[in-house]
Amino acid sequence: MNSSKITPESIAASKGRTRIAALTAYDFPMTRLLDQAGIPLILVGDSLGMVVLGYPDTTHVTLEEMEHHTRAAARAKPRALLAADLPFRSYETPEAAVANARRLVAAGAEAVKAEGGLDIIEQVRAIRNYGIPFLGHLGMLPQHVLEEGGYRVKGKQEAERQRLLADAEALVQAGAFAIVLELVAAPLAAELTRRLPIPTIGIGSGPDCDGQILVTPDLLGLLPWFSLKHVKPRLNAAEQMRAVVQEWKRSVEAGSGAKAG
Ligand code: KIV
Repeated sequence: MNSSKITPESIAASKGRTRIAALTAYDFPMTRLLDQAGIPLILVGDSLGMVVLGYPDTTHVTLEEMEHHTRAAARAKPRALLAADLPFRSYETPEAAVANARRLVAAGAEAVKAEGGLDIIEQVRAIRNYGIPFLGHLGMLPQHVLEEGGYRVKGKQEAERQRLLADAEALVQAGAFAIVLELVAAPLAAELTRRLPIPTIGIGSGPDCDGQILVTPDLLGLLPWFSLKHVKPRLNAAEQMRAVVQEWKRSVEAGSGAKAG
């Protein structure tokens, strides 16, 4: 196995050569396990808010929470590139974007991600000018879910398609090393993948992106109360955990729970 550290440059260079399988992690053990499984890009996503912290959406996540979980993930010292999300309202100006990106880097992030294109392009330029690697995020932007009134596929209408193409070009020009495409209509995701010189990493955006990213608990079936169209859990972890806990509880009640194994 090639054990060299994954960098933003190596992720960018994988375009057209190796598809990128990226996942989220929010703590030390999951980061270590994903890294041992060879995942090259691990994101401390602000999905943290929904899948770990119990918030109804990602708009409640604070920078302090992102720092706390980024520190935990970074302690795994992954070979993977470790990226972290700038949370809602933490990058409203270029100055705030740089200051808060620096805080995530100080917590152990090797790249930051923020949601948007032309609307945040000055912030992206400022982050890149400071020397911090930037991962773009276009399409359905979960930090805008309240103003948009839900999660819906983007880029089906021509105006939206044009806007997304312009956003993506702007992110490339500003120096993003890859772009997450969330709930982008599959034909547009394929077009973006063909046109852009950097990798597209899809989530719910069809099969033709340069890579795919999932929220790890969705892949593992840890959150059966969320049902998503774009992911079929590969494991029923919630059911298995419940069964093991119930079995252990029964053994404790029967007086044999302290036995090893
Ligand atoms: O917060 C997150 O986990 C994300 C992924 C869905 C890409 O942004």
